[in-house]
Amino acid sequence: MEIIIQPTPEEASRLAARLVAHALREKPDCVLGMATGGTPVKLYEELVRLHVEEDLDFSRATAFNLDEYVGLPGDHPCSYRYFMEEHLYRHVNISPERVHIPNGMAEDIPAECEMYEAAIRTAGGIDMQILGIGSDGHIGFNEPTSSLASRTRIKTLTDKTRRDNARTFGSVKDVPKHVLTMGVGTIMDSRQVVLLAFGSQKANAIARTVEGPISAMMPASILQTHRVAKIFMDEEAAGLLERKAYYKWVFEGKPDWQKF
Ligand code: PGA
Repeated sequence: MEIIIQPTPEEASRLAARLVAHALREKPDCVLGMATGGTPVKLYEELVRLHVEEDLDFSRATAFNLDEYVGLPGDHPCSYRYFMEEHLYRHVNISPERVHIPNGMAEDIPAECEMYEAAIRTAGGIDMQILGIGSDGHIGFNEPTSSLASRTRIKTLTDKTRRDNARTFGSVKDVPKHVLTMGVGTIMDSRQVVLLAFGSQKANAIARTVEGPISAMMPASILQTHRVAKIFMDEEAAGLLERKAYYKWVFEGKPDWQKF
């Protein structure tokens, strides 16, 4: 795991965007795994800026989103398809047929989940998976006690996650109880993971993810066993890390070319 602590979410997001841009320039047909929520918004803003001002080209890229609410159509303003269109896809030149988001309206949910896994395989697997982290340690919508080997499937959200996500719905009672999400195993298959975490409300989950034991109670902790996991955070999210000074020292000592 590489721990990258920056003073602010803006600086951390800019660095993470450089990493995504580097991956896209090295491999224009890169397969990107995308995340939703408040955390990656600044990263997407920066990717849009890089597209507009520096010709970052998404024309051959493929994208797979982590998750979607069950029962929300893609044009619902709280759906994750809508979120992705608003924050990234409609502002860059990615082709719509290479954008994949689980269909929360599917009649046959197990078939939809199997198709999603098959589409990821057909695309050659995910090169770089962007992740946020829930305050309970979830990645995607893999809530605590999710199997660390799980694949794309339906999950029931915890009350805590529904409360955390109520801000976009206006009221907790409107937040769907069920979601489709890539599994922890699906996420672990990606070649590189880029997790972002900002704010003191993420500090406990980050400390347990980075320095705690690996446990299904803290699904993100399995990333300790991923070969290339980069964890970007601001000072607040880093607040409970025991070895914070060490991580900063390591990052500061890196040659520039290695800071992507
Ligand atoms: P947030 O959600 O970015 O809105 O904090 C993160 C997550 O649930 O993974």
